[in-house]
Amino acid sequence: MAKILDGVAVRNGILARLQPRIAKLGRAPGLAVVLVGHDPASEVYVRNKVKACAELNFFSDKLTPPADISTEGLLAIIDTLNKRDDIDGILVQMPLPKQIDARRVLEAIAPEKDADGFHPMNVGHLVAGRPGPRACTPAGVMELLKHYSIPVSGKRAVVLGRSDIVGKPQALMLLHESATVTICHSRTANLAEECRRADILVAAIGKAGFVTAEFIAPGATVIDVGINRVTDAAEAERFGKAAGFAKAGSVLVGDVHPLDADRVAGAYTPVPGGVGPLTIAMLMANTVELSERRQSLTKQGVI
Ligand code: GUN
Repeated sequence: MAKILDGVAVRNGILARLQPRIAKLGRAPGLAVVLVGHDPASEVYVRNKVKACAELNFFSDKLTPPADISTEGLLAIIDTLNKRDDIDGILVQMPLPKQIDARRVLEAIAPEKDADGFHPMNVGHLVAGRPGPRACTPAGVMELLKHYSIPVSGKRAVVLGRSDIVGKPQALMLLHESATVTICHSRTANLAEECRRADILVAAIGKAGFVTAEFIAPGATVIDVGINRVTDAAEAERFGKAAGFAKAGSVLVGDVHPLDADRVAGAYTPVPGGVGPLTIAMLMANTVELSERRQSLTKQGVI
């Protein structure tokens, strides 16, 4: 049986280390969360983000423009948030409705208030290895590896998925820790074989149980970024989650087949309770960092 990497324990450590930094600030860090429309998954994520703010005594402002808002309308909201003194971090929950130009929206967020690290300037800082807010989920994965003292330097890391939110920044963060990194995606030839070469495999493709035993080298560390809701009883049973399904009518499954990970990997993150809690912890960490910088600049009379 593989070791289970407990994201809740890692999150608790990250939040505990933030407390003294928050206590030193002149005012509470402020985070604006923009949720466009009513995507059910996004509503859950945003609720959890606002709850985390309350638990840390942050100021948070949730804005909920309608699903049919125009790009210009959303840009006007961002402009107001950029100018507000009580807001240190801005987050626009993804995905956005189709009529919205997401790129323009992300580029409109002031880089110094970019709580998600999605602005091209901050992506550039990541590429160059310079400080700046980092994408929360991959940054959380790096914290998890550090917490469990899993060696990264000189190891083969395979990132399955090439999204801007997880795959690409994850690959760069692993590279900065001196891993030998391969990015795999839907067009990769011999996908299972590539993944099987990994000492550290990060799965971020959004397909329930896609990564099976043949993708996993015996003893590898498997990080499962996927969160997929399974509503079919037979599927749930295939993932060893029949009991949970009987109780709730659906279950959450990652991108990795949990029974296969348990059988073949050396260590793996469960879903739920693995990477999920870390994303919000890193959002809080980014917001504290942005607030520290803004409050220090305000004190010096720079802004
Ligand atoms: N959608 C999925 N993950 C994220 C995230 O980390 N930030 C935002 N803003 N939207 C997301």
